Amino acid sequence: MVSRVIPVNAFDLVLFGATGDLARRKIWPGLFHRFLAGQFADDSRIIGVSRSDLSRADFQAKVSAAISSAHDGDKDKISAFLDLIDYVSVDAAGDRGWDNLEAATRSDVIQAFYLSVAPKFFGAIARRLRDRGIATEESRIVVEKPFGHDLASARTLNAELRACFQEHQIYRIDHYLGKETVQNLMALRFANSLFEPLWNASHIDHVQITVSEKLSVDGRGEYYDQSGAMRDMVQNHLMQLLCLTAMEPPSKFTPNAVRNEKLKVIEALEAVESSDIARGQYRASGDQGSYRDHSGNDKSITESFIGLKVNVANWRWAGTPFYLRTGKCLRERLSEIAVYFRNPPHMIFPGLDVPQGNVLVIRLQPDEGMTLHTTIKDPGPGGMRLTEASLDMTFADSLKDAERPQDAYERLIMDVIRGDQTLFMRGDEVEAAWAWADPIIADWTDRNLKPQQYDVGSSGPEDSLLLMHRDGRRWRPIGN
Ligand code: BG6
Repeated sequence: MVSRVIPVNAFDLVLFGATGDLARRKIWPGLFHRFLAGQFADDSRIIGVSRSDLSRADFQAKVSAAISSAHDGDKDKISAFLDLIDYVSVDAAGDRGWDNLEAATRSDVIQAFYLSVAPKFFGAIARRLRDRGIATEESRIVVEKPFGHDLASARTLNAELRACFQEHQIYRIDHYLGKETVQNLMALRFANSLFEPLWNASHIDHVQITVSEKLSVDGRGEYYDQSGAMRDMVQNHLMQLLCLTAMEPPSKFTPNAVRNEKLKVIEALEAVESSDIARGQYRASGDQGSYRDHSGNDKSITESFIGLKVNVANWRWAGTPFYLRTGKCLRERLSEIAVYFRNPPHMIFPGLDVPQGNVLVIRLQPDEGMTLHTTIKDPGPGGMRLTEASLDMTFADSLKDAERPQDAYERLIMDVIRGDQTLFMRGDEVEAAWAWADPIIADWTDRNLKPQQYDVGSSGPEDSLLLMHRDGRRWRPIGN
């Protein structure tokens, strides 16, 4: 059997924020899985960087704890992985530690600097990497969201990074782009001839994009209260899902060809009417605190839910709305894109109930996969009756026993090393998304608009249901 793991060339990955939450939860376990899969060249190295004054052994113990909680791998493999890891204590905004970092990095292998730190440090770190000659013209720099708070701050971050690195060196992570199904959406659309002729307003009635979470904001309320669902989820993750669903086929599968088409979608978005937006905030229920308890702000008017209707004003989509919703403390954890095809133009089965038109549901989580809802004859005797049947495909079923689905971060980090920017946001894309989101948020601020309360474990506020109802449509249920 031919291995599907394609090894990458030797690299130095320098991880700033190496003891932080994201590193512990996602980056270290992800790197360990890629190591176990045999993807690293022998002389690859990972250099953890943080402010803390830790010995290499202390730091390795922390990494070991992070990977052990995510993976009960055997001790020899963990110890072989730890051998690749070094640690340097650096003051990102000051001068301490940079000489040591310089001494620890090599310029004759692929170099990636991953800034898993607050955006206020991006500029300072980029400048020092350049001024001290640690980064080269070939180095890659990776940054995490939030990429700005609005258009102005995103422009500042872009300017700071571009002063030291060129756009082709900058990898802006939106981890939704690393999810298996998101890439499958491109394969589905552009590697099959079945769907694309139907993928337009003549055949599609509307599209629903849902990212529903059960989690509250407890533990990160301070950050979240400055952000809200619009900035935290819609401007980035849901926007990317919308782009991949709505974009024109790129002429080739190259980073800029794909990103040019996504940018055109964002630029084609109409301004959203305030009547097409439902904003919600979860209230207390049982022993579960309210959003205001969790954010520590008892007057907060930040939204923990948003539902909105978005129009893509171009030839392909005019007349086919995209409904987006996302929220915390909802009934289930569920992310999906549901494409509702129009009903047949003429129904030849008079008096028969047609259960529903065709719906293609692309599931991101849980159980990544796809379901196509179709209408068939109800099997068996009893005359001509119609019923609904689903063609169902769960991607995990197609993996071989030994394989496990890759986490988004694993794929994205390996793409950085490979030098493939397709699944990363370009600077102009991020700015265009803020240019669309800013007036929506500004309107709430100007009007001091209070979100509607909703129950924990529900599908969001009443206004969200009304938003659909008004258009004669219904959201797909979130859970049973
Ligand atoms: C993050 C948001 O970007 O994405 C979080 O800041 C959110 O609020 C998370 O919970 C959702 O990611 P996933 O992969 O769990 O759907």
